[in-house]
Amino acid sequence: MIHAIKNHFRFNLLTTKYTKYPKCFLGQILMIMKPDLHPSAIEAIGNTPLVDLARITRNVDGRILAKLEYFNPGFSKKDRIARQIIADAEASGELAAGQTVVELTSGNTGTGLAIVCGITGYPFVAVMSKGNSIERARMMSALGAEVVLVDQLPDSVPGQVSGGDLELVERETQRIVKERDAFRADQFLLESNFRAHYLNTGPEIIRQSGGHIDVFCDFVGTGGSFAGCTAAFKEHNPSVECFVVEPAGAAILAGMPVTYPNHRIQGGGYAMLNLPLLNPAQVDGYVTVSDRQAIEMARKLAREEGIFAGFSSGANVAAAIELLETNFEGQTAAVLICDSGLKYLSTDLWD
Ligand SMILES: Cc1ncc(COP(=O)(O)O)c(C=O)c1O
Repeated sequence: MIHAIKNHFRFNLLTTKYTKYPKCFLGQILMIMKPDLHPSAIEAIGNTPLVDLARITRNVDGRILAKLEYFNPGFSKKDRIARQIIADAEASGELAAGQTVVELTSGNTGTGLAIVCGITGYPFVAVMSKGNSIERARMMSALGAEVVLVDQLPDSVPGQVSGGDLELVERETQRIVKERDAFRADQFLLESNFRAHYLNTGPEIIRQSGGHIDVFCDFVGTGGSFAGCTAAFKEHNPSVECFVVEPAGAAILAGMPVTYPNHRIQGGGYAMLNLPLLNPAQVDGYVTVSDRQAIEMARKLAREEGIFAGFSSGANVAAAIELLETNFEGQTAAVLICDSGLKYLSTDLWD
């Protein structure tokens, strides 16, 4: 049946639509086109589009180039680190065939790992705080992960995961790793997190922008994206300046007091001083962004640029505008659009 429909379609294309060309025209085009088939969704990770936010910056002296990471199969940049962590662990022999993989996640790394582990045949357990949006847990389950949800601290609020909440998730993760003799895909510690962005995200931005990047800013969770992209940018051009983005009231890396740990910007801003992947020598400065700024910019991205992203993407773009309006007039900033707005449909981001 399908075969018959295909033949009919080809017949129509050659005889009805393209009658002015010889019949062999389409056949010749198909012969010279290189096949572009991925053996699995893992190979569809990366090479995401870079878009000029020309509408949002129309009244700003400068450009913002945004890397749309929701084009990855799991709709976030974290697919990249999932692929790298599993590949590196297989190569080093740390991950044995069929061994269980476990990781603490705010949802995005877990989704990436669920995809990669599902395809490569490792059972995967995602451990997540109940404070993260429920779409993430449902998506990981749908992708075959076992999802363990951990209660928040009594004074925490759903949608606002604090460093204290994360501590509880960490304890549960360690318990499960021990119990199942599992491989811990530790995104806070493993160099693979850094390498994913150093080897891929950063070089892709350099290539797609023609090497024209002056400043980069990134909302930090593990710091892997910031560190990897920054290393690639500075290697390409040491004068590229790189800024850590933190939530207002939880800007511990900038040396400010933590007065608002339960901010709304999911995926980072955990007010953790020790981030092993982040090298302070690479940081040229810090920008803080309030919940309101992140939310308003995420909404503006959707309305004006057709870019449907989450809180942290709004934070990155808000920070980039602040940089262009202060020390970087007339220059080009690069940002990551970390994940899809679909991951926040159950929150008030889109009210
Ligand atoms: C939506 C979102 N934004 C930002 C980050 C922070 O990225 P990184 O861990 O590379 O610092 C994360 C990390 O999980 C995330 O899920």
